[in-house]
Amino acid sequence: MKTIAVISRKGGAGKTTVAVNLAAALREQGARAVLADADPLRSSSEALRAHSLSVVETSASKLFALTTASRRSGGDLLIIDTPAAPEGDVVAAIKVADLCLVVSRPTYLDVAAALKTLELLRQLRASGLIVLNQCPSARQGREPSQVSSTLDALRFAGVPVAAAPLRVRQAYQSALSEGQGVTEWEPRGQAAIEVRALAEIVRRKVLGELPSRPANDAMALSAMAARP
Ligand SMILES: Nc1ncnc2c1ncn2[C@@H]1O[C@H](COP(=O)(O)OP(=O)(O)O)[C@@H](O)[C@H]1O
Ligand SMILES: [Mg+2]
Repeated sequence: MKTIAVISRKGGAGKTTVAVNLAAALREQGARAVLADADPLRSSSEALRAHSLSVVETSASKLFALTTASRRSGGDLLIIDTPAAPEGDVVAAIKVADLCLVVSRPTYLDVAAALKTLELLRQLRASGLIVLNQCPSARQGREPSQVSSTLDALRFAGVPVAAAPLRVRQAYQSALSEGQGVTEWEPRGQAAIEVRALAEIVRRKVLGELPSRPANDAMALSAMAARP
């Protein structure tokens, strides 16, 4: 069993959106994924109140026990949705995680905060991957300057970035308000395509699986170039 912490020191970056959608997409891909809501605001629990994907309500101090229990119960993946603060709670999630997904919007302040988080991960010897969220859509395969300059800055900093950015899409908000991930709400939509690409990247990284379909890289690339 592997644990993924979804973190960002910035509120509103999209931790809950990424955690919920990733859990739903990983389940669709056949992984036994459990979502843990470690945010006292309980946004994941609220979003999935009527969903078959059960959410475990937890807190920073219970995370170690939760990962032990999940390992015993034979789950494949435990995905932890975390609060923006305080730092101690985020550190507790980082310490139990095999991979930390650092969610960041493609803005100067978000990226600056994400780089600080990456530095914290380095100090804690934890593995991190930046997930860009709320990116404006690519046009005819070309990234908007906001996204390309963000990617340049992250490349310059030498930090790993998931090759499946999530775009600003109404589908993310509509799906959550219906208590679903986008892969369930609109299985053939552009949001579902980019979330599946991200799920595939994450699954390969933590479970070490080979891509189940040869189209995976093409999926990631097509998600990058997805139409609005
Ligand atoms: N890719 C996206 N496209 C459109 N809206 C989004 C996207 N990601 C997040 N949102 C919206 O932004 C707000 C904050 O997202 P949320 O996941 O709650 O962030 P966090 O958990 O980091 O505070 C929510 O209203 C959510 O629906
Ligand atoms: Mg949240």
